[in-house]
Amino acid sequence: MVAEHAPDVAAAIKEHVRVVPPGVFDKLAPVTPPTGVIAIAKRPAVSPAQVLDNPAEAPVVLLENPRNLLNIGAAIRVAAAAGAAGVLTTGPQDPWHPAALIAATGLQYAIPVARADALPTCHRSLVVIDPGGQPLRQGMLPPHAVLAFGAEREGLSRELMARASHCVSIPMSAGVSSLNLATAVSVILYTWKLAQ
Ligand SMILES: C[S@@+](CC[C@H](N)C(=O)[O-])C[C@H]1O[C@@H](n2cnc3c(N)ncnc32)[C@H](O)[C@@H]1O
Repeated sequence: MVAEHAPDVAAAIKEHVRVVPPGVFDKLAPVTPPTGVIAIAKRPAVSPAQVLDNPAEAPVVLLENPRNLLNIGAAIRVAAAAGAAGVLTTGPQDPWHPAALIAATGLQYAIPVARADALPTCHRSLVVIDPGGQPLRQGMLPPHAVLAFGAEREGLSRELMARASHCVSIPMSAGVSSLNLATAVSVILYTWKLAQ
């Protein structure tokens, strides 16, 4: 498997691979992976300030109080793919939860990902993404932005909306009320990326 999937790090991996009795897997993972392989990596300590202070022009994605770990993982995955500067979440869900890690294919290790109690004050301009906003057009998303997305059921809080400099919507056909959270993150990030 190493030769096929990770030849670039084969030497480093070889040093650390251990064959363990099956019972060990039951203790390490909620679901034993069918591949028979578990990777153990140290979780980096990333603070919300480190995510927001990233000097890159690329946007930071803010998920306000997301509930669904698969959505969180899918949003992190597309944020890494599109080249976002990082992902912040608020609310009780941990963006490093094993279910979110699986959904993100471990891309929490590729871009800065942190949880905050609320969005701290920062130098980035806040753009809220909401079905009631101005229809999305190329060039509408400023550099150094925080792009904020709301919870699956409730959407964005009034407090966060009140702090925003722009409110942007993704056009939809009549009769459709909203997109899935991770789908909305994908549309917005790729609109930004394709304009670069
Ligand atoms: C499932 S939606 C929330 C639906 C919620 N009932 C509402 O009306 O906001 C989750 C988040 O995805 C984003 N979203 C979904 N569809 C959108 C659209 N068409 N335009 C802008 N944002 C959208 C928003 O950030 C929203 O808060």
